[in-house]
Amino acid sequence: MFVGIDDISFYSSGMYLSLSTLAQHNGENPQKYRLGLGQDRMAVPGPDEDIVTLAADAAWPLVNDENRHRISTVLFATESGIDYSKSAGIYMHRLLGLRDNCRVVELKQACYSATAAVQMACALVMRRPEDQVLVIASDIARYGLGTPGEATQGCGAIALTVKASPGLLAVDPVYGCHSEDVMDFWRPTYMDTAMVDGKYSTLVYLRALLASWKNYQDDGGASFTELARFCYHLPFTRMAEKAHRKLAGAEGERIDEHQLEEKIGPGLLYARQTGNSYSASLYIALISLLENDEEDLAGKRIGLFSYGSGCVGEFFSMVVQPGYQKRSRRSTHLALLENRRELDYEEYARLFLYASPIDGSAHEFPRSAAGRYRLAALEGHKRIYEQTSPGL
Ligand code: CAA
Repeated sequence: MFVGIDDISFYSSGMYLSLSTLAQHNGENPQKYRLGLGQDRMAVPGPDEDIVTLAADAAWPLVNDENRHRISTVLFATESGIDYSKSAGIYMHRLLGLRDNCRVVELKQACYSATAAVQMACALVMRRPEDQVLVIASDIARYGLGTPGEATQGCGAIALTVKASPGLLAVDPVYGCHSEDVMDFWRPTYMDTAMVDGKYSTLVYLRALLASWKNYQDDGGASFTELARFCYHLPFTRMAEKAHRKLAGAEGERIDEHQLEEKIGPGLLYARQTGNSYSASLYIALISLLENDEEDLAGKRIGLFSYGSGCVGEFFSMVVQPGYQKRSRRSTHLALLENRRELDYEEYARLFLYASPIDGSAHEFPRSAAGRYRLAALEGHKRIYEQTSPGL
């Protein structure tokens, strides 16, 4: 029996800031962001959007009357938690009308936890092949106005279903992990923006990549040349270029610009527009690859590197299933990115600094979310979500 990803979708907010606008405001050359970081735009969440609304918008197309009763578990990966105790997945479970007989839990290890969720989901399905597991990764990347990390902000969520005999991707059982206690990027519980040692974080990312790759090889993984495409965690898309060159160099392979574009290019298109979405970003790269690669990828093996600061890395692989194109949501995803509203710098800064009460007083959020779900209000320290258009 093989298990893996049967369906996958992503959602990001309906507003964005062009990185040329940001460069102009910050007195930087726009080419630094466009070429140096490989980013064009960053998604900006509205006051009535959070990891729950982004996640529910990513997940609703995947849940229907045929599979709702089969979803036995929701694994919600995030590092933008809204509550120390209650899982964000519980709110989403209600918004999507999932069955009561369902386990829901939140997972955290920076940007890595979605991959832990995928591996755990595969193990659960191996044990009960009639079940499906809904995996969510949803995050809002915040560094602060005027910080070096600012140009690498963004937001987004992915949802995927894991099942036996999946329609999209079979996940290989081999993997290579690397864990190490380092302070490259972290967020103390009293802060709403990340702390980061930026240059160091890129070095640790590459170190974790090589260590994970070695462990993947030792576990019997596919060779560098056997992998048809590569998807990397994307804090900014240029990081994938650095990672792929590093891996090629370690394997004694020389790669030119054409090979680089072939192996990683189609996977970078969506993240150039959304910015970093932490735990979701690797899977947005995977969606971008499946929806935009012009070659038929059926039967091809894809290598993936998941990285979460602090740190855990994992190199693993998946095989694309025949007929995967029929499940593509390309037109929906392209429309989502195309139809966003552009912000000027002042509006972006106002949204960034928007603060809701933390004393329990009642608060209604202004309407700006473009999706089906929004955070309507706070009341007595409770978050009140609503559905803005019929999705169920
Ligand atoms: N034209 C073209 N390129 C230009 C340029 C120009 N005019 N000006 C500068 N550049 C290039 C630079 O040469 C550099 O390229 P190289 O990396 O190849 O040297 C690139 O643009 C970036 O320039 P700087 O290094 O000067 O940029 P910076 O100091 O402002 O910060 C950063 C870059 C460290 C990534 C910063 O944005 C940051 O701290 N980001 C957040 C942390 C992060 O994303 N880390 C990634 C690894 S950790 C991780 O992956 C987990 C996660 O999601 C956070």
